[in-house]
Amino acid sequence: MVDRGAGALVALPPGEGTALSQLLTDRRSTKELSNEALTLEVVAGLLRHAAGVDGAGRPTYASARAQYLVSVTLVAGEVVGLRPGAYRYLGSRHALRTHTLGDLRPGLAAATVDAQWLAGAPAVLVLSADLTGANHYFAELGAVQGERFAWLEAGLITQNAYLWAAATGWGTAFIGGLNQAALPGVAEQVVPGGEHVLGLLPVGRPA
Ligand SMILES: Cc1cc2nc3c(=O)[nH]c(=O)nc-3n(C[C@H](O)[C@H](O)[C@H](O)COP(=O)(O)O)c2cc1C
Repeated sequence: MVDRGAGALVALPPGEGTALSQLLTDRRSTKELSNEALTLEVVAGLLRHAAGVDGAGRPTYASARAQYLVSVTLVAGEVVGLRPGAYRYLGSRHALRTHTLGDLRPGLAAATVDAQWLAGAPAVLVLSADLTGANHYFAELGAVQGERFAWLEAGLITQNAYLWAAATGWGTAFIGGLNQAALPGVAEQVVPGGEHVLGLLPVGRPA
């Protein structure tokens, strides 16, 4: 073996293609969406892939000590068969529980730094977590380890949503830039008290 020393580049082979390769090529943050309505079938597919369970009841993403710290709320605007409002996704039961009725998209859009366009998305997934509770649960690992785990879990759910979009031709983008001054007013309508909004995933047909 030739010793090339620190800093030398090691060229890599292309790596074997897999079932994921094309999806990763097609994965994009889509920030221009048409106002085409979503059906319940489409919403169900998105939720199950992003943060649900498979036929054997196994979750589609990893979670520290299987605590499933992150909650997903569907904010429906134009979803056939659902009145506009916020609906909590119960992943293990693959069901929605109504949280608040009314069009909450304008409030969410106003709470973003640069994504006001999401007021026109037919639906938005809201990722949230009780960060204080998470920190308490994982306190033995460090003061803020619980919230780190929650953020990481949100990333896994987000990538699932992106891959679902790549596979189906729908579009999404993770919006993490939130205006912390504007957020509490709308958050209290969308998620239970004590939960922190981690990010938004507007969903729709690419324009
Ligand atoms: C943690 C995180 C936060 C993001 N926040 C925003 C945001 O606030 N507004 C926005 O328009 N895009 C946001 N994005 C999307 C990025 O702009 C996008 O991923 C980046 O431009 C790369 O494009 P691609 O995802 O199509 O490869 C965010 C992405 C990540 C991972």
